[in-house]
Amino acid sequence: MSHQMPETTGAKAHSARMYDYFLGGKTNYGPDREAAAQSVAAFPNTLTAARENREFMHRAVRYLAREQGIRQFLDIGTGIPSAPNLHQVAQQEDPACRVVYADNDPIVLTYARALMSGTPEGATDYIEADARDPKRILDHANGTLDFDQPVALSLVALLHFIADEDDPQGIVRTLVDRLAPGSALIVSHGTDELDVSLRKVLEIYRAQGITLRFRDREGVREFFSANGFSLVEPGIVATCDWHPELVDRQDGIRRPAGSITPEEVGCWAAVGLKPTE
Ligand SMILES: C[S@@+](CC[C@H](N)C(=O)[O-])C[C@H]1O[C@@H](n2cnc3c(N)ncnc32)[C@H](O)[C@@H]1O
Repeated sequence: MSHQMPETTGAKAHSARMYDYFLGGKTNYGPDREAAAQSVAAFPNTLTAARENREFMHRAVRYLAREQGIRQFLDIGTGIPSAPNLHQVAQQEDPACRVVYADNDPIVLTYARALMSGTPEGATDYIEADARDPKRILDHANGTLDFDQPVALSLVALLHFIADEDDPQGIVRTLVDRLAPGSALIVSHGTDELDVSLRKVLEIYRAQGITLRFRDREGVREFFSANGFSLVEPGIVATCDWHPELVDRQDGIRRPAGSITPEEVGCWAAVGLKPTE
């Protein structure tokens, strides 16, 4: 696969490719690397924050498959593939897991084959779509997922790219309204509550035309409480503090408790469940 810069991308950085750079990937170009380097200069823990966010996603999926028996996942704001991807984590728990991915960045579609390399027993699908059109995503996912059964909706490091004017609460409501009892919502969200120096990053993203909107812990809580979801213990915590014991079986990552601090990750994380009655 060529890593030449696609003509359509212009000279601006993209959030998916900046995140790919933070994770050590190769699907990023000059403008992405420049903006990413500025972010790292402004918030030196950016690489740690990206990695911890990704590992939170792995642990949340593992928890929901293992402890809650969920076998279907809808992941919006998927990002450029970076193994293990969500379906690989889920299908390691049960090869029959079914996963639908959605992202609005054409670069992710280019690499979507890596997201569809699941098990024969399960299923994976990808749709290029914008989270601000949640009905389209639900209609598409309906072909692969059975919405009469529990589905885990993953909005990991996505909602801080949705401006207040685009009604993130309304988007989440539309999505979770469609989910059966026993379904789950996974959210991680950038915040300046854990380290105010993260504020410097806002301007760097905005200079690239990327909406970035930090929210506080109460703002993140509302995505769950407004929809009647109950938070899984320990509630809303920094990504590094959400069930660190659910260690990654594939790479065996295990770090000493407390070796990463909330200030370093700058991101709230939580998992909630839709009541069964
Ligand atoms: C920081 S990455 C997170 C990737 C992955 N969820 C993770 O946490 O490892 C954010 C992703 O959200 C996507 N994104 C941003 N705004 C979006 C929108 N309105 N609709 C769909 N995807 C969006 C970006 O293209 C990017 O791939």
